[in-house]
Amino acid sequence: MTPRLKLENVGVQFAGLRAVSDVSFEVAPGEICAVIGPNGAGKSTLFNAIGGYVRSTGHVWLDDAQLSGKPIHEIAAFGVRRTFQNGGLFPDLTVIENVAVGLHQSHNISLLSGAFSLPSARRMEADAVRKARELLDLMGILSIERVLVRDLSSGQRRIIEIARALAVPAKLLMLDEPAVGLTTLEIEHLDQILKRLAREGISVLLVEHVLDLVMSVSDKVVVLSSGERLAVGTPAEVRQDQAVLEAYLGYSELC
Ligand SMILES: Nc1ncnc2c1ncn2[C@@H]1O[C@H](COP(=O)(O)OP(=O)(O)OP(=O)(O)O)[C@@H](O)[C@H]1O
Ligand SMILES: [Mg+2]
Repeated sequence: MTPRLKLENVGVQFAGLRAVSDVSFEVAPGEICAVIGPNGAGKSTLFNAIGGYVRSTGHVWLDDAQLSGKPIHEIAAFGVRRTFQNGGLFPDLTVIENVAVGLHQSHNISLLSGAFSLPSARRMEADAVRKARELLDLMGILSIERVLVRDLSSGQRRIIEIARALAVPAKLLMLDEPAVGLTTLEIEHLDQILKRLAREGISVLLVEHVLDLVMSVSDKVVVLSSGERLAVGTPAEVRQDQAVLEAYLGYSELC
């Protein structure tokens, strides 16, 4: 099967620092792949290289499309979606409105522009709301569609950010530390959502320090250390990898 995402010798250089060095791995359609490693290992930089946010060497493919060297918006148009640390949700809009806005933004339409007085725009709005509801249903959060975002917990907001990122068709979802600040219950919910998205065929690339979540959801784990790929394998394989144990994780943390 053609991999959904393929990285071949990806490297990122910041002045004198080689932040990512010759990293290669593949992610299949519907596969959840975690990227783990100590602080400064190059995980976020690797995401930025895939998304076109930093200049990189090597090659990145999404299905048959070469992403390397393409601008951010073109890479996004191929179906690469991501969330940001400061999610940029609108606190005074409802959950459904926030997700529908994600759809409009993808069509370069401003919700506040008054464009909805046109029949075609109204149809697009109805379509956006219908798609947003489908997404909330898939994520098991349709019951809170009319709640204002400002009344949500930080964990619920994180999940809305993911929903909004997925408002346009996604082939690859990249999440950088989505479990930060979440309660155990919220992490369990996130766990279920990621598995559900993967069953829908979306490939997920997950940078995460919460190892329980990593070990539970991942089909594959890539371990980075000082910008280099130290190991790749199933959670069980990585857990037993002597180089990984010695290099950073600490035996007790992985068991
Ligand atoms: N824009 C930048 N300019 C210069 N150096 C950078 C830049 N972004 C990251 N770095 C450096 O590149 C290295 C990798 O950083 P990166 O943020 O990718 O690590 P990380 O694995 O995501 O760490 P963390 O777990 O703390 O988020 C670090 O040494 C960092 O200081
Ligand atoms: Mg990071």
